[in-house]
Formats: sequence, C-alpha cells, structure tokens
Amino acid sequence: MTDWVEGRVLERTDWTDTHFSLRVQANLPPYKAGQFTKLALVDGEQKVQRAYSFVNPPSAPWHEFYIVEIPNGQLTPRLGSLQPGDAVLVAANPTGFLTLDEIPAGRDLWMLSTGTAIGPFLSILADGEVAMRFDNLVLVHGVRFGRELTYQPLLRQLAERYGERFNYVPMVSREPWQTALPGRIPAAIGSGALERRVGLGITPSQSQVMICGNPEMVRDTQGVLLERGLVKNLRRKPGQISAENYW
Ligand SMILES: Cc1cc2nc3c(=O)[nH]c(=O)nc-3n(C[C@H](O)[C@H](O)[C@H](O)COP(=O)(O)OP(=O)(O)OC[C@H]3O[C@@H](n4cnc5c(N)ncnc54)[C@H](O)[C@@H]3O)c2cc1C
Ligand SMILES: NC(=O)c1ccc[n+]([C@@H]2O[C@H](COP(=O)([O-])OP(=O)(O)OC[C@H]3O[C@@H](n4cnc5c(N)ncnc54)[C@H](OP(=O)(O)O)[C@@H]3O)[C@@H](O)[C@H]2O)c1
Repeated sequence: MTDWVEGRVLERTDWTDTHFSLRVQANLPPYKAGQFTKLALVDGEQKVQRAYSFVNPPSAPWHEFYIVEIPNGQLTPRLGSLQPGDAVLVAANPTGFLTLDEIPAGRDLWMLSTGTAIGPFLSILADGEVAMRFDNLVLVHGVRFGRELTYQPLLRQLAERYGERFNYVPMVSREPWQTALPGRIPAAIGSGALERRVGLGITPSQSQVMICGNPEMVRDTQGVLLERGLVKNLRRKPGQISAENYW
C-alpha cells in the first residue's frame, strides 16, 4: 500500500498550452536524482494516481514535476488546472532505477529523452555528481514541435556550469526548427547525424547510454544501439544501455 502525504502547489510554469511544471511542497524521504514518485487527486471515492519524475535535484527545497496534458487523460487535465495553494497528494516512497548509481563507468554519458522525459536528466545534471563520473555529458531532447524545447533557462545554466563537457542536442520531428536536428533519435543515431553533431562516437568501450520517454522510442533506440554492439545494463550483468519507459 502506498503511503501518501499532502503536498501543496507552490508555483506553476506554463511552457506551452499543454506543457507545464508544478513546484510542490511536501515532506518526502530522501531520494536520488533520476527517481520518480506518484501524484494523485481524489475523484469521488477514487484516487487517480500516476508516476512523475522529479526534475529538481534532491537538494532543492521543493519537488518539481514537468507534465504534458494528455487530451482526455484521466489525471493530467486535472493536474493542469492546479494553481498555487492547491493540494495534491504525493506518494511518500520515491523510487526508480534511472539513477547514476546504477550506471557503470564510462567516458561519455548520453542521456536520450523524448517529451517530458527530459525531466530525470535535468535532475541528474542539476545534481552535479555526474560531472565526477563522466568526462562528456550529452543531453538529447526529442520533441514534436520547437515550442516543446522547454527548460531553456536551466539548460543555459547547465551549459555555463559544465562548459564544453556538456552538449545539449535539441531534436524536432514535425517542423524545421532553428539549429535542432530534424527527425527522430534512433534515425539520427543510425545515420550518424547525432554523433557528427556532438563530435563523439557511441561505442561499447566509451559510452553509457540512458534512455527515457516514449516506449516505442526506447525500443527503437535500443535496437540501433544493440546493432552497434552495446548491450543492456543489468545489475547481474553490466552493460551500456539503461532505460525507463514513461507508459
Ligand atoms: C516512471 C514514470 C515516470 C513518469 N514521469 C512522467 C513525467 O515526469 N511527466 C509526465 O508528463 N508523465 C510522466 N509519466 C507518465 C504519467 O505517469 C502518466 O501516464 C501521464 O501523465 C498520463 O496520465 P493521464 O491519466 O492524464 O493519462 P491516461 O488517461 O492514463 O493516458 C495515458 C496515455 O497517455 C500517453 N502518455 C502518457 N504519459 C505521457 C507523456 N509523459 N508524454 C506523452 N504521452 C504520454 C500515452 O499514450 C498513454 O497511453 C511517467 C510514467 C512513468 C511510468
Ligand atoms: N494538444 C497538443 O497540442 C499536444 C501537444 C503535445 C502533446 N500532446 C499530447 O501528448 C502526447 C504526446 O506527447 P509528446 O509529443 O510529448 O510525446 P511523443 O508522442 O512521445 O513525441 C515526442 C517525440 O518522440 C518521437 N517519437 C515517437 N515515436 C518514436 C519512435 N518510435 N522512435 C523515436 N522517436 C519517436 C516523436 O516523433 P514523431 O513526431 O515523429 O512522432 C517526437 O519527436 C499525446 O497524447 C498528445 O496528444 C498534445
């Protein structure tokens, strides 16, 4: 049984008509960058609950969640109407394995995300321990439209903090967009376009790859990486590919 604590919305940021972030105050036990918890709202006698990753580093004084409103979704339209001061239930047991302590050593860390799944990587990057573990940090954010390339202020701070070691690659699949790579992540790996853009190769000896988001993206990306000789990272058999599906 999940234990719940009552949280309170401190602040919301609206990035697009459908994408927003909530900063929530809630007394939670310690958690690690990259983990998630559940948010819930009560609907009559029922609690509607869903998983959300922390965007903030664990040291932050609030918990931040980045959410896309799913048309006719059971929970997100209601989360989308929350305002500062409103209550939201937060599960008191943050969990998840998309964390640095699950990732074997390597030279380069590739963090591949679609949509709201950039969140856990922002948490890991903002936390900072990652810089002691890897020489090069690559963050790829694949979205449908340019306006969904959110969190630019934080990304600028990360670029300043990490300098040339940090490479942020926006990818936009449904319209041409400034300097973003076009298309989808697996295709950009397959064609070599992503590695050319970053100036690093993805290899079993040098790379660790974390993937998060759309389950079909996760599956297809794993497919191209397996063809390159990378293998899934398991606790009993370390490899180079670690992934989390958002649905
Ligand atoms: C470990 C984990 C972490 C997650 N973290 C986040 C997060 O940080 N932010 C977030 O917005 N969602 C996150 N999700 C998804 C979230 O739990 C819900 O599934 C989502 O918010 C939809 O809820 P809903 O009740 O409105 O939609 P539902 O009525 O349950 O409809 C679900 C459908 O919506 C689509 N969908 C679900 N989540 C997403 C998404 N993130 N992006 C695009 N399409 C989606 C899929 O087609 C899915 O089948 C996470 C899921 C998991 C398993
Ligand atoms: N109403 C709105 O304006 C609006 C806006 C955004 C989202 N939404 C809702 O939110 C949900 C989708 O959210 P989203 O756009 O964040 O997520 P998404 O559908 O997962 O798309 C995010 C990125 O992942 C890519 N992708 C999809 N399948 C892939 C695969 N197999 N391999 C590699 N890349 C893949 C998409 O490319 P492609 O573009 O090529 O598919 C896109 O670039 C939907 O339920 C949608 O209705 C609504």
